Amino acid sequence: MATDQALARSAGTPAHGWYRVPPAGERYSLDRLRALLRTNDPDAVLRQELGSWLECDRLSWHRSGREALRVAFLALAAKTGRREVVVPAYTCFSVPAAAVAAGLRVRLVDVDSRGWIDPAALARVDLSNAAAIVICNLFGFAEPAIATREMARAAGCGVVDDAAQAYGATARDGRAGGRGDVGILSFGRGKPLSGLGGGAVVWSQLDPPETHPAPPVRRSFGILQALGYNAALSPWIFGGLASIPWLEIGQTPYDTEFPRGAIRGDHLGLAASRARDARERGTRRRERALDLANRAGNGALEMLLDPSGGQGVFPRLFGLAEDRDAAADFLARWGKLGASRLYPSSLEDVGDLQSQLAHADACPGARTLADRVISLPTHPGGGEDSRRFGLG
Ligand SMILES: Cc1ncc(COP(=O)(O)O)c(C=O)c1O
Repeated sequence: MATDQALARSAGTPAHGWYRVPPAGERYSLDRLRALLRTNDPDAVLRQELGSWLECDRLSWHRSGREALRVAFLALAAKTGRREVVVPAYTCFSVPAAAVAAGLRVRLVDVDSRGWIDPAALARVDLSNAAAIVICNLFGFAEPAIATREMARAAGCGVVDDAAQAYGATARDGRAGGRGDVGILSFGRGKPLSGLGGGAVVWSQLDPPETHPAPPVRRSFGILQALGYNAALSPWIFGGLASIPWLEIGQTPYDTEFPRGAIRGDHLGLAASRARDARERGTRRRERALDLANRAGNGALEMLLDPSGGQGVFPRLFGLAEDRDAAADFLARWGKLGASRLYPSSLEDVGDLQSQLAHADACPGARTLADRVISLPTHPGGGEDSRRFGLG
């Protein structure tokens, strides 16, 4: 069997050293940075773009997506007088961390092989103390929300439509982020609408509890950060940074002590500078992802594509390896070219979360997904040449 180095060499790519294609993220073009300089009121630009797409003008800006979740959970707990949040057992660790940071307990619900809440599993969950169920739209698709919404309504709890990974995605039942009592957006790195940080709550059905004044924009700091970020997306620099353990690049810590409060002005400005073409960039990522998936002739991965009737935004292209060993093998071969895991485990297996879990059924679907899921890059510097992943 060929070694990793031989495989990478045959793909025409540096085989060792620091070279590593980032799994996600897109450079800020000069045009976008000029837009940042020209925009006098980024708050208004972002509000106009997101508000018209999600048909709601009640938006609040927060320090991060997880801080937006914490604020939304507090509002739903106050409204319902309940103390639990129902979270899919395979999702970003920040989702349960935000619930715990809001002083709530977490109840897990199992997911299917697309990462969607399994309706049969949800029917078994005790919702009597649930303030909210979170729909995570995990792989950049708008997860169908109708069944979850109906179960939530019948149980008297709210729905959070978390579009951190899926801003711009549509399903038959609407747009990700716009179908819950509240919606959540993240402007973090690698997200479909990135400002290098920050997040938002879309107050579709609830009144916003408080509004923070818009922060000062600090354009020059935003531009410096964007230039630094552009440089860090170079595979040679990214690989060097990723090899420094304390930077925790590509890791998913479970951390309830994240910064609170309003969005930083530089992040607000950067998010606004990208808001107008964020969905168009989603369409281009989708084209690259479908092209990559269409050539996946040898079946190394079972690709997760748009569900029928929906349109995803592909922050990455996700696929399922046959099992944990096959996933590890794929990553060993193609990690340098941007293949990556998503979250390392089911939430059932996050040690620090255990004491905050309300009783839950076992969630085998989440464990299987954690073992099998692999992401491939869809950004302009990553995914064009599917042969690089041995897929075409
Ligand atoms: C589904 C989901 N919700 C919330 C978040 C939290 O967003 P942030 O990283 O901006 O705190 C993430 C982050 O990746 C996420 O994937």
